[in-house]
Amino acid sequence: MVTENDPNWHIASWRSDVRRRLLAWFGKHARVLPWRSEPTPYRVWVSEIMLQQTQVATVLPYFERFIQRLPDVHSLAAIEEQELMRLWEGLGYYRRARSLHAAAKKIVSDHGGEFPAVFDQVLALPGIGRYTAGAILSISGDQRLPILEGNTQRVFSRLIGLRENPLTTTANRMLWQFAEAMLPREGSGTFNQASMELGALVCTPTAPDCEHCPLLVRCAAASLGLQSEIPGKLSRVKYEDRVEYAFVIANARGDKFLLQEIPHGRRWSGMWDFPRTSDQTLISLDEALGWISRSEGIDAVVQSRLFTVKHAVTRFRITLHVHSATLHSSPADRTRTRAPKGWKFVSRAELRDLPLSVTGRQIATKLDAIA
Ligand code: ADE
Ligand code: SF4
Repeated sequence: MVTENDPNWHIASWRSDVRRRLLAWFGKHARVLPWRSEPTPYRVWVSEIMLQQTQVATVLPYFERFIQRLPDVHSLAAIEEQELMRLWEGLGYYRRARSLHAAAKKIVSDHGGEFPAVFDQVLALPGIGRYTAGAILSISGDQRLPILEGNTQRVFSRLIGLRENPLTTTANRMLWQFAEAMLPREGSGTFNQASMELGALVCTPTAPDCEHCPLLVRCAAASLGLQSEIPGKLSRVKYEDRVEYAFVIANARGDKFLLQEIPHGRRWSGMWDFPRTSDQTLISLDEALGWISRSEGIDAVVQSRLFTVKHAVTRFRITLHVHSATLHSSPADRTRTRAPKGWKFVSRAELRDLPLSVTGRQIATKLDAIA
């Protein structure tokens, strides 16, 4: 669930004011970058791919050298892979270069070497997702397409006070809607770049410079003092602690142990296991014995605690106490302990061959060590 956020962005006058402030700021503070001065689809494409995992300062010399050697789609499609990798060397994430190469070949074969101007065709190119397709077409051709990447996720989340992690489905959907709603009728490419630029220069991850931010008076995070809480982190899985009990019940001669093939419809069905509690919120050993008696017909008398194993299943952190026990029986048939219905006494040798549940195997292994 998306909890709290500033609903003002649904109001057109709020959006046009934010837009106006952001564009005025960008007009004054935009960095001069080589792909901005001459934003052809090819140049914007190459720059966006390079910028995906790499800082602007690092990209600059690589971009210049790349464009000089490979000025257009045709030259990129024709280059030997080894030489391409040499040009990319040091930028890292080399899959980006291989995708770039493959996309150039596809543009030559499918689009006559002309970078496509149709969103779906751009999206179909290797290495290009929704963000990159939107960035290329908005920046180079001023198509009215939204973008959302690391910088804009952070800026937009703070602006509307969206506390969820931007990668959650609900937050991600809302941020794309916001990005789209914010676009001007003309100048989407400039708006998109301005949003990213604010994230890169002012609304930075750890120390946003709100004092000098053009959006301060409209910013939900700043007015609530939530800049360091937004964007929200992915919430860790919350584990629930649970105590369970298992019983090692030997026969009268002490050479076999009571086990059961877990019935159909239960977790681990088809595997074998010792008598144990599961999916119960039990606190004491006595409660565990009572439960085993009622649900399995096993009347056991505990002898001693053997060991404790810890393991995690889905969201449960289970502490399993393993006790040795004997079947409660009348003195008359003490020499012939009979397994309760549905249960079987299994020898150590058989234990080795039977499929056991994870904890069943842990117990069997420990029993071997004890014997
Ligand atoms: N980061 C990636 N692409 C960018 C762009 N066009 N402007 C500012 N920051 C960016
Ligand atoms: Fe980011 Fe601060 Fe500007 Fe809000 S006021 S957008 S938190 S820099």
